[in-house]
Amino acid sequence: MQKNSVIKGFSKLNRDEKIRLLMEYLKPSDQVEINLNRYLHPTDQSLFDDISENTVSNYYLPFSLAPNFLVNDQMYIVPMVIEESSVVAAASKAASFWAKNGGFQVRVKDTIKNGQLFFQWNGPVSLLQEHSNQIENIIEKASSEATINMRARGGGITGFEIKPIDNMNNTYQLLVKFKTANSMGANFINTCLELISTPLMDFINTTPALNKFGQAEHIMSILSNYTPECVVECKVECSIEQLAPYSGTFSPQEFAKRFKTGVDIAINDPYRAVTHNKGIFNGIDAVVLATGNDFRAVEAGAQAFAARSGQYRSLTHCKIDENTFTYTLEVPLALGTVGGLTNIHPMVKNAFEILGNPGAEELMRIVAAAGMANNFGAVTSLVTTGIQKGHMKLHLGNILTALNATEEQKTKALAFFADQTVSYSAVQTFLEETKQKA
Ligand code: MEV
Repeated sequence: MQKNSVIKGFSKLNRDEKIRLLMEYLKPSDQVEINLNRYLHPTDQSLFDDISENTVSNYYLPFSLAPNFLVNDQMYIVPMVIEESSVVAAASKAASFWAKNGGFQVRVKDTIKNGQLFFQWNGPVSLLQEHSNQIENIIEKASSEATINMRARGGGITGFEIKPIDNMNNTYQLLVKFKTANSMGANFINTCLELISTPLMDFINTTPALNKFGQAEHIMSILSNYTPECVVECKVECSIEQLAPYSGTFSPQEFAKRFKTGVDIAINDPYRAVTHNKGIFNGIDAVVLATGNDFRAVEAGAQAFAARSGQYRSLTHCKIDENTFTYTLEVPLALGTVGGLTNIHPMVKNAFEILGNPGAEELMRIVAAAGMANNFGAVTSLVTTGIQKGHMKLHLGNILTALNATEEQKTKALAFFADQTVSYSAVQTFLEETKQKA
């Protein structure tokens, strides 16, 4: 097969044929095929193959445990899946500190999710709003069968609005509010919306007061990943003196002031805010991934939430009141503990068992605490020692592996760099010198 030619029917090939095609098409090193085969699961491969299309192997990431998370007086060992070396260590360290200082106090403010049904019609929105009662009946009737189970679990459709789309003529949305109990709810919401669209269009198109403005046309229906009403609030609080173990060479008072300044900068400067929030997502994404949730949905929704004032800002806030240090995080988290990967992927099932099989709200609380722990650790390092000290120490193992260090060299390097600045070139020089000495 010619390089750059169009590949036809790839999905219809079996795994061996796909790999053969890949090897012929790209002519990569033999190692590519060796690795694709090495990382196949000896017994459960069909399980993983079913999760996505065109599966030819598996992609491993570390599954780690961060202990000592005291969340609303309950202790958790939190599973985290992440590739960045310092994240689990930073989360565990911050969790241990807060476990001794009151823990994470977390409150789910609400769990409302949104679905959007878009349509075009030449009439005024006020006329549709005048028909709210009829539209409510249509929504209820069209979705009644699909919502039976969800209603039994305390969820279902909780409200709706009809609104014009900004800057577009004659384009509207039916914004439907949902509660989805322990599921993330994407399929449920999309199913309901699709059931509603035809009867809603039929209603507009057959009602004389409405169809005199012409026919309505359904454009699309989908859940919204913006969930500003599915929000969790996490708080840690202690006296300034209690911050002493974290304040390094600064006094606890100086540390608290520097920490607050660091956070205030992230509230007011978008360049810093993005990096600051990235530190929060180090923790959030790691638990979201471990529990098989949709990290793209969580990220998209929460990043938009960070910009809800019109400027992208920190998701956390710091307050120093007399002798009290208070740190808060507010973040939307649309999570599920049933459906999706939750009862398919064996490691996701493990993660839930390790967490004590929480419901969605409990998982929201744990995930928020993980985000806050990582952010607290990151800002602390930044305003005290600088990030590279701890970061590069933990990265040392990766550098040594990348440079093919032997076990003996690794042991020597760990001892040597205990009080030295770690950098790729410094490790390289160290290895060369130890080789020459040997
Ligand atoms: C690195 O993964 C995360 C940090 O950049 C977060 C921050 O700057 O607050 C350290």
